[in-house]
Amino acid sequence: MRARSCVLSVLFLIFSFISAKAQWAPLVTDAGAADRIAWWREARFGMFIHWGLYAIPGRGEWVQWQEQIPVDEYAKLAGQFQAAHFDPDEWASAAKVAGMKYMVLTARHHDGFALFDDPQSDFTSMKSAAHRDIVADYVKAVRKAGLHVGLYYSPLDWRFPGFFFPGIYEQSALQMREQYHRQMNELARHYGRIDILWFDGGANEWLGFGGVEFSGPGWHARPKDQPYSGKFDWQDVATVSRLRELQPQILVDNRTDSPADFLTREGDGAIGGFDNEHPWELCTTITEGAWGYQPNAKVKSLAQLIGLLVGAAGRDGNLLLNVGPRPDGQLDPAQVARLHEIGLWMDTYGESIYGTRGGPWLPGDYGASTHRGNAVYLHVLHRPADGVLVLPALGATVARASLLHGSAVTEFEQKSNSLRITLPADDAIDTVVKLELTQPLPDTMAPVPVNSGAERMQP
Ligand code: GLC
Repeated sequence: MRARSCVLSVLFLIFSFISAKAQWAPLVTDAGAADRIAWWREARFGMFIHWGLYAIPGRGEWVQWQEQIPVDEYAKLAGQFQAAHFDPDEWASAAKVAGMKYMVLTARHHDGFALFDDPQSDFTSMKSAAHRDIVADYVKAVRKAGLHVGLYYSPLDWRFPGFFFPGIYEQSALQMREQYHRQMNELARHYGRIDILWFDGGANEWLGFGGVEFSGPGWHARPKDQPYSGKFDWQDVATVSRLRELQPQILVDNRTDSPADFLTREGDGAIGGFDNEHPWELCTTITEGAWGYQPNAKVKSLAQLIGLLVGAAGRDGNLLLNVGPRPDGQLDPAQVARLHEIGLWMDTYGESIYGTRGGPWLPGDYGASTHRGNAVYLHVLHRPADGVLVLPALGATVARASLLHGSAVTEFEQKSNSLRITLPADDAIDTVVKLELTQPLPDTMAPVPVNSGAERMQP
């Protein structure tokens, strides 16, 4: 017995040494960077909202582009945008019920329609049938609910030929850029504290959608992987620096050419690998299909969504889950019902998500793991047929294993190279086993590989 605990202690020391090598660091290097992202790293779960004129045709937020709807034609939708049942308190309450800690609303998507007041633009919710500053009401409601406030903003605007051909329609490109800078200023100055600016479609790589360019000797197609390299520049670095001056606590994603606070991954299939060295977030939709409203869109199953949340947390990332409200602003009841179910799951299992770090084991066929202090949470998404889960030893001593719900103690056997856990006959979508270690694990540590299926793409 003594020899065994001695082996375990030695392994623990080796383990702590190895783990000490993995260093978490913010992506940006200014002095306040680690502090301002601390809440976000604890939060783990947020709500994305795609809402705009595109909700009216109900064929997704890319409808204008996909169906090549003429700009003037599309603009008429503003006359129908009444937002009659827009109630941001309802949105915030749905997010809260689901256990989400922050929200991100599309203040302006690629169609250029702003959900806020910009006196110099005619294409805003103030000048739509709604005559309302949607962002102002949203920000108030989210803050009142005690959640962190995020805004999505796309500098690109399909109404400007200069976006597609910055080399030819230079004036138009410059006007589009002026709009971006002006609107950033509006958002940063008039809505109080904004916690997240979630950029999309900025950065020079998006210009012209990787398409045809006219420069130098004439027309040529730009290879997909080659960003635009012409004269036009969004001036992201200066714009984001200005934003940070006005909103010193703001977090910015990596979809501009400026240094970012966190990285983004998009869509279920892009959940990707484990990364506890850079803050990152997976954004995806609660329904199958587009981000913007589509009537009768199929809501993903609870198991699928918990798999995504656990999959992200177990890889040390956040999950930003999107809902697309109806044209009148109401959330789809089927989506709200699913959010409720997620919330019920969180009531029981939130301890294994909030404030945890991914690991210590890499995700694999079994599911994923998270940890905080001396607690490790094993999320068993796929129960082995014989009910016995065998993982490589952690190098730390497990003092107790129990099920997170109901606190039933679980049998386990600890050897120098393996940990065997007997799982209950349980058909839970995620059997969460809490392991209590005799010592805390370091926050950021090199993850322990598992035998098969590690880091596979789908949770
Ligand atoms: C894509 C799409 C967009 C969506 C975004 C969310 O970049 O252009 O429609 O808003 O992903 O991440």
